[in-house]
Amino acid sequence: MRDRLQTADAVAENDEPVDYQTVSTPVLVVGAGAAGARVAIALAEAGVEPLVVGKRDHGDAHTTWAAGGINAALGSLDPEDDWTVHAADTLDEGHYINDPEAVELTAKHMPDRIRELADWGMPFDRTEDGTINQRYFGAQSFRRTCFVGDRTGEAMLDTLVAKARELEVPYRDNVMVTRLLTDGERVAGAMGFDMATGEFVLLRSDHVVLAAGGASALYHRHSSREDENNGDGLALALGAGARLADVEFVQFHPTGMVGDRYGEEWDGRLVTEAVRGEGGRLFNAAGERFMERYSPDQMELDARDVVARAIAREIREGRGTDDGGVYLDISHRDGEYIRERLPSMYERFQSLGVDITEAPMEVAPTAHYSMGGVDIDFATGETGVPGLYAVGETVAGVHGANRLGGNSLAETVAIGKLVGEHVADRVDDGAPTVTSGQRALAEREFRALAELEASDGEVTARDLLADLGDILWEHAGILRDEASLREGLAKLDALRARTTDLRVAGDRTTRDFEFAVDLSFSLPIAETILRGALERTESRGAHYRTDYPETDGDWRRNILVSEGPTGLELRARGVADPSPEVQDAVERGYELDYHHLE
Ligand code: SIN
Repeated sequence: MRDRLQTADAVAENDEPVDYQTVSTPVLVVGAGAAGARVAIALAEAGVEPLVVGKRDHGDAHTTWAAGGINAALGSLDPEDDWTVHAADTLDEGHYINDPEAVELTAKHMPDRIRELADWGMPFDRTEDGTINQRYFGAQSFRRTCFVGDRTGEAMLDTLVAKARELEVPYRDNVMVTRLLTDGERVAGAMGFDMATGEFVLLRSDHVVLAAGGASALYHRHSSREDENNGDGLALALGAGARLADVEFVQFHPTGMVGDRYGEEWDGRLVTEAVRGEGGRLFNAAGERFMERYSPDQMELDARDVVARAIAREIREGRGTDDGGVYLDISHRDGEYIRERLPSMYERFQSLGVDITEAPMEVAPTAHYSMGGVDIDFATGETGVPGLYAVGETVAGVHGANRLGGNSLAETVAIGKLVGEHVADRVDDGAPTVTSGQRALAEREFRALAELEASDGEVTARDLLADLGDILWEHAGILRDEASLREGLAKLDALRARTTDLRVAGDRTTRDFEFAVDLSFSLPIAETILRGALERTESRGAHYRTDYPETDGDWRRNILVSEGPTGLELRARGVADPSPEVQDAVERGYELDYHHLE
């Protein structure tokens, strides 16, 4: 097996007939989480009927796991807050390599997007006077995170899906896109297969929007479910000639569940930041509230990268629990309050025999989010490849070197709406026809997939993905250095060599085949993470190099990755400055005062 980037090209032309279904649509949206749904709603409201495809049932996307909230400077509780401070916090915690336009568009549009979601029926928690309630979240100067208990992502996706259904947006589930249809100049659709029937599908469209999530599940320990955030969106874009940016910045959420304590199926799953936002405290095995040593002012609510490194250090230096974590305790708060504000956490731990109103949880950092991704123009979603747009976690820009909790959901709707409106403006015809050249390209891809399905070697994709996860966790994890990154790249080469001996045990409807396709996405993206991390000889946000522990002003640049004739090509690009009003908010130096929580 080869990387997806090479597969179709490597399959010889032949006359064997290949059966497939053809679907034609003015706009194809790949991915059905919040970002894809918001793009589709904007299109439908502008009179364009898109087709949304997803790997799962409608409404069952990774968005449902973003638990604790969504940021908007409503100032419900802290009237000093406004969108410029939201933008300043985002830039500050992103260590100033965010795209300022992306940040400003998100912060500026969010209050309206929240009111819109509320109008569409999202049941936000309310204050006694009926305004939308807001909670503290890490490293934000004010209470800015709107929430629905600790089920915010789920409630938001339910709301967006209901709206999309009201607008009669067509949705097709069980579709795995394996490659974009491109003549090397522009994107004209996508190819893939129906995961339920195995049927190959050619999706013809002049406008393809990738909203297919990030790549954090490539890591051994991660917060995603098995079949999401495998790097599909990034790999599809890279393979079609788009640039990726900042892929070395991977967010490790400080508080993932500990498998040795709660069972392997829970390993890495999120314990929402809302636990700390509602006052949760971290203790090591000796009962020491260790954040006092790392961040005496912001304590447990410092930025995720700071808290994750602190926990990792406690564990590494032998002050963790026997199960390999630290304690997160909210039991000092009233039981009724905990059950109301954190119902999912309460129920989940209750089902595991732990009453969090009385006992602590055991947690450790987990790979959670890709700050990097496709390099786009934020007002339009354009990738630089005609016909291809991207949005949501698939893209880089809003979060820079470290994402603020609550800003991922914000980005999906703030930017999703803008991208949908822009694409709607670009659509001039209905569903496009399919040329013979496009059919030939699609048939090559389908033959390549059939060849993949017939792989009869010795090693399974599941095993190779597990080994890949170990490589990234060990060599491109919370702490990195040159020797270890180089070793990671060498191990990746060795792993690639093993793919020639791949065995796919089932047909195209099996998980085995899906894993084989995932692997073809994961390999190039793992390489971009390792290469980007090696290139960036400084520490900044979530990228911490023990051999370059300081932030280097000369590195206030994005690392761009593209596919060249002989492999990946990397180059650095400078970052624009924020607008004067946001710069002013930066200079005013707002900061969260944690002690309000005590
Ligand atoms: C969380 O609830 O901690 C996750 C939300 C996010 O990552 O923004």
